[in-house]
Amino acid sequence: MLDGCQNIVSIGLALLTLYLFVRWANIFVKKKRYPPGPWGFPIVGHLPLLGGELEKTYLQWWKQYGEVVSFRLGSWKAVIVNGYDAVKDAAERSDDVFSGRPPLLFNKAVTETFGGLKLISFETFSPKFLHLKKIASRALKNYMLNCDYPHEDLFRDEAIKLSNKLFMQGNKEPMQLASHVELAVESMVYQMFYGKGKEEEIEANVQEVVDAMSYINKFLNADNSVNFMPWLLYLKQGKIEEFKQAILATDKVTKLKAEERIATFEQGQVRDMVDALLAFSNEMPEEENAESFPRAYLIHQRVAFQTAIFDPVCRTILFIILYLTKYPEVQERVNTEVSDVIGNDKAVGYKDRDNLPYLNAVILEVMRITSLVPTALPHSALHDTKFRGYDIDKDTMVFFNLHSVSHDKLFWGDPESFRPERLLNEQGHVDKEKRFRILYFGAGRRRCMGEMIAKILVFITTATLMQRCSFKKAEGCDLDTEPIRGAVYGPKPFKVIVQSK
Ligand code: HEM
Repeated sequence: MLDGCQNIVSIGLALLTLYLFVRWANIFVKKKRYPPGPWGFPIVGHLPLLGGELEKTYLQWWKQYGEVVSFRLGSWKAVIVNGYDAVKDAAERSDDVFSGRPPLLFNKAVTETFGGLKLISFETFSPKFLHLKKIASRALKNYMLNCDYPHEDLFRDEAIKLSNKLFMQGNKEPMQLASHVELAVESMVYQMFYGKGKEEEIEANVQEVVDAMSYINKFLNADNSVNFMPWLLYLKQGKIEEFKQAILATDKVTKLKAEERIATFEQGQVRDMVDALLAFSNEMPEEENAESFPRAYLIHQRVAFQTAIFDPVCRTILFIILYLTKYPEVQERVNTEVSDVIGNDKAVGYKDRDNLPYLNAVILEVMRITSLVPTALPHSALHDTKFRGYDIDKDTMVFFNLHSVSHDKLFWGDPESFRPERLLNEQGHVDKEKRFRILYFGAGRRRCMGEMIAKILVFITTATLMQRCSFKKAEGCDLDTEPIRGAVYGPKPFKVIVQSK
């Protein structure tokens, strides 16, 4: 027994010595100047320090160590870039050095599940990525300009259905909104990709996708240490297999729909986003179509879009409702603005946003304060480089601290307070400089590809809900704005009373 303890202590001391030696060697022998950062543990690095209120830990590091902070995630070297100037400079570097994506285990698992087809969000930076991004962006534009069922009509129709469902149930007793919002958003996403369909068919398919998505999210939020310490895989192989099955389940329904679309596709017709993607795969130059960009690979990108939309959009809408309910005086002002400017019957369009500056400011303030994807998706350094005078080695994981930008005390004064009016200038319009300081969708070359359509969706849904219902705090029901943390933050479950107008 005593021998066993001595062995463990000796191994521990040996590892500690090795770790200290490597740090010393890095600092003094190689003469590299790495960004400062807190001391971590051998093997696991800083993972044990990152639990709980992660965004607050990073803010503390910013204060203590500065704009660029070094740390370790298991076997990965990592840096976090803090504050508006540093985030913009790093994300917009002309050599794109920080635009890579690390080959994390989850990314690999997803790629394996799809037989080696990679989603655009996991592609590292390369000419292939740039080409794919160009085509995918053009397809999205083609969809937004030419679709038979215009996206604004789709979003409004689903928002109206959502409001009807909400006040049928929520005016009698306090209700949880999350499942209704999820179904509404997934119905929008489903019809965006596979066109207007029969209601029963959409409802059945959408429910299946939502169930599988919620499993994936629980899995991702529960524990992602395996991403950074791949040797843990031996202990968690069963879990990874379950994860792959859930991914396949989200794709089961939509794969059939995509095949149906491919079989009936006619050039020039844009029934939906799959048609919009197909239009470009046919227009690709022959040699590119045949080799690096086969049609299957391009159509497969619909999965990247579908998954990228669902979570952040649902959570944004839920957070907006939560804040509007918690701050009834803000909701009252939005209600008055909406009924004065567009009335309670006229269909809301995105063009109305300039005439609804207060509603716009509320949406932006929710985006600022919640900072849903606080450190964007992980980036990686494509080669050894220098930033702000520090050395950053190739393959270092790079995080852009978007939360630090929207919670910068020097710029915002009281970043923890919810005050939509801070975003309005003296003329009552949304202040441009402040708007650009909210990097909700990331920055630089890897920023969100769906920013425009996401803004339209969120605006039309919120304005339509505000035209038709009001949300009231229910007696004894807590409205806690502290988020549930994960890759994408979300509100804790909450109940409200919904009344029709
Ligand atoms: C409120 C909703 C949304 C939020 C908050 C959001 C936020 C983000 C963020 C922070 C990133 C990572 C940027 C980075 O790594 O630096 C991202 C990436 C991405 N988003 Fe969104 N997003 C939203 C909606 C959408 C929608 C509607 C689409 C598609 C139509 C979309 C497609 C993508 C794609 C494809 C990427 C990966 C881009 C790349 O790897 O280069 N997102 N999003």
